[in-house]
Amino acid sequence: MSGVDEVLGLNGDEVTEVLATAALAPSLYNSQPWRFRLAHDRIELHPDPARRMPATDPGDRELRLACGAALFNLRLALRARGIRPLVTLIPGADAPGALAIVRHGGLRDFDDETRRLVAAVPRRRTDRRPFRAAPVPTAHRHALVRAAERERSWLHAVTDRGERARLQALVAEAHRVQAEDPAARAELAAWTGPRGADGVPPASAGVRPAPQDEWALRDFGGVERVPGKDYEPDPLVVVLCSFTDGPLAELQAGQALQRVLLTATDLGLAASFLSQAVEVRSVRQELRHSIGGAVVPQSVLRVGFGSPVPPTPRRAVEDLLLEGVPTTGR
Ligand SMILES: Cc1cc2nc3c(=O)[nH]c(=O)nc-3n(C[C@H](O)[C@H](O)[C@H](O)COP(=O)(O)O)c2cc1C
Repeated sequence: MSGVDEVLGLNGDEVTEVLATAALAPSLYNSQPWRFRLAHDRIELHPDPARRMPATDPGDRELRLACGAALFNLRLALRARGIRPLVTLIPGADAPGALAIVRHGGLRDFDDETRRLVAAVPRRRTDRRPFRAAPVPTAHRHALVRAAERERSWLHAVTDRGERARLQALVAEAHRVQAEDPAARAELAAWTGPRGADGVPPASAGVRPAPQDEWALRDFGGVERVPGKDYEPDPLVVVLCSFTDGPLAELQAGQALQRVLLTATDLGLAASFLSQAVEVRSVRQELRHSIGGAVVPQSVLRVGFGSPVPPTPRRAVEDLLLEGVPTTGR
């Protein structure tokens, strides 16, 4: 597939499956901003600069979150084949430009949790439609918090009524700022609608926003809602945070994001994003301040009980491969 016969002891078909699993990760506007370089002894994860969102994500923070999520899937896919993945984040001179190198860390049987999370990968979807009115049980919320902790991140659940109202106002404010920014509007428009292998297709757009909505969801041109079928009154809203700022923390938070989303899927929960509040710089600062200032907000999620949602498209694995051998050998 790439001029390399065997990668981490896997044959071509197995490597294709592993990379296809990685590529099922979520990404801003389904931009799929990841590329892979293969060698006998490693899989390198690289960003795809052609898939940046300069207006919505000027610092590439969400690009790295998405790549972190893809890395988590990659780790799972290797574990499911009995390979313990050894990951180096931001490897520097060992692989210039790479976000991560994954090497073979020995053989190991996989556990039940890996089995459940791997099974959740193709079932996970972003669900932008109204959820059922049922509240998320406390035990489920704790499981999501633990999932973030497992990936060295922090999940802050917004349960206090006052804090919830403040966050709603912050999301609305950020939403308004982006709606008034022609460049951000153009990016949203460019990635909305049928595009083939990427973008947010009409079937995934959710419902059209209405004045009574408490949370400002991004408008992907969804359908009119069934009359009287409004958004759930009490979604679980969580803020995924890292402990520090910067690319390494963002890659860690991306892995945590995916562990949280897959854990939610496994528990029968659905999720969608309220990213405006972490994209608009001034609003993100306010959000950080409002949750205590010590942790760094990376992603805001709405979680609840959804209904079946169709999958979004993905690019072919061949199109994700960076040609050429890694600069340094094994
Ligand atoms: C970092 C990040 C930010 C996102 N922000 C939003 C958002 O603000 N609103 C939204 O509706 N979806 C958001 N998404 C979800 C993506 O649009 C979604 O993952 C993509 O379209 C692929 O669809 P899937 O998640 O169903 O596989 C975000 C995803 C990521 C990884």
